[in-house]
Amino acid sequence: MPTTIPADLHERLRVARPFLLTALLALLLAGLVAAAVAHAPTRPLVWMVAYLVLVAGVAQGVLGLGQAWLPERLPAPRWRAGEWLLFNLGNLGVIAGTLRVSPALVAAGTALFVAALLAFLLGVRGAGRGGWLLHAFRAVLVVTCLGACVGLALSVSGVAV
Ligand code: HEM
Repeated sequence: MPTTIPADLHERLRVARPFLLTALLALLLAGLVAAAVAHAPTRPLVWMVAYLVLVAGVAQGVLGLGQAWLPERLPAPRWRAGEWLLFNLGNLGVIAGTLRVSPALVAAGTALFVAALLAFLLGVRGAGRGGWLLHAFRAVLVVTCLGACVGLALSVSGVAV
C-alpha cells in the first residue's frame, strides 16, 4: 500500500484497534510490575517486564498497525481474530512457562506465537513488491521469530532466567 492516505482509513484504524488496545494494556502492566518490584527486582520479573514491553506491547502494536495499513485487501475478520488469539495466548504461555520454569509450556506458547507470526506474514500478502514499510514489517516478523527460537532454546537448556 500506499504512501497516500487510503480512502478507508477509518476502517483500517478499526482493524488495528484490538492489537493496539492489547499492546497498551501490556505496556501498562509492564509499568505497574516494574514499579511494584523496583525495590527488590528478580531476574524472571525483570525479564517479564521486558517481554511485555517489547513483544506484547511494541511488536503487537507494530504488527497490528502494519497489517491494517499495508495490504490492498484487509484479511478477513476471523483471520484477524485468530491472529490476536494465537499471538496473545502464545504470550501468556511463554510468560507463564518462564515464571513457572516449565519449558513444555514455553514450547506450547512459542508454537502459538510462531503460528501468529505466520498468519501476520500471510495477512500482508498482496501488499505489492518493495516499499520500506513492508520490509520493516517483515523484519519485525523475522526478529521476533528469531527471539522466540532463542528464548525457547534458553528455556529448554535452563541457562537463562
Ligand atoms: C524481540 C527480540 C528478542 C530479544 C532480543 C530477546 C532476548 C532475550 C534474552 C537476552 C534473554 C535472556 C534473559 C536472561 O538473561 O535472563 C531472553 C530470554 C527469553 N526469551 Fe527472549 N528475546 C526476544 C524475543 C523473544 C520472543 C518473541 C520470545 C517468545 C515468543 C522470547 C522468549 C524468551 C524466553 C522464554 C526466555 C527465557 C528463557 C529461560 O527460561 O531461561 N523472546 N530473551
